[in-house]
Amino acid sequence: MSTSPLRVVGIAGSLRRDSWNRKLLRAAAALAPSGIEVHISEELPHIPLFNEDLVGGREPESVLRMRAEVAASDALLIATPEYNGGVPGVLKNALDWLSLPLGGSALHGKPVGLMGASPGRLGTARGQFELRNMFVFTASPVMPGPEVLVAHAHERFDAEGRLTDPDVAARIGLLFRNLSSYARLNHHEAVASS
Ligand SMILES: Cc1cc2nc3c(=O)[nH]c(=O)nc-3n(C[C@H](O)[C@H](O)[C@H](O)COP(=O)(O)O)c2cc1C
Repeated sequence: MSTSPLRVVGIAGSLRRDSWNRKLLRAAAALAPSGIEVHISEELPHIPLFNEDLVGGREPESVLRMRAEVAASDALLIATPEYNGGVPGVLKNALDWLSLPLGGSALHGKPVGLMGASPGRLGTARGQFELRNMFVFTASPVMPGPEVLVAHAHERFDAEGRLTDPDVAARIGLLFRNLSSYARLNHHEAVASS
């Protein structure tokens, strides 16, 4: 089995300056066990609205950069709010770009870990469920658990934005273990079949 570090690319599904979900993603990066490197993508604010006319032609630089980040990673870690019970438009828009080219998407087969934070009481459960469905279309295996649903987000971080809830931290630890097991198994099988 490979001993090289597992490369995880993190995407926050909010552009808000004081986003709870970006805090959650940074907390997760800090909690990553040895052997896992988390790179937080900063491309989302630069991704233009999806336009199929641009596909296959001169595609936007930000899309090419984000696609390269995902292609170079072993797994994806998403921390996102839900808006009106669904996936935020900015995140869905980026994932639509990343789902291309058909037959060669960087998302294809990429293991995905989901997290979400909300000041509300359901902690993004509905938005995450919608995301799971979306990843069926890119054949990206979403970890079945643990669910990282950070409800009442304003009570789970200190003034410096550090995560203060040990239960959430434990769930993130388990999510990393599951992502790691799955990605290494996946890699092993891909190598074995090549
Ligand atoms: C248009 C809109 C719709 C929202 N819908 C939901 C929702 O369905 N469920 C929820 O828990 N919070 C909802 N919220 C509140 C967000 O969870 C809250 O704004 C959160 O802080 C956004 O995530 P962020 O802190 O990472 O930017 C909504 C907020 C907005 C602006």
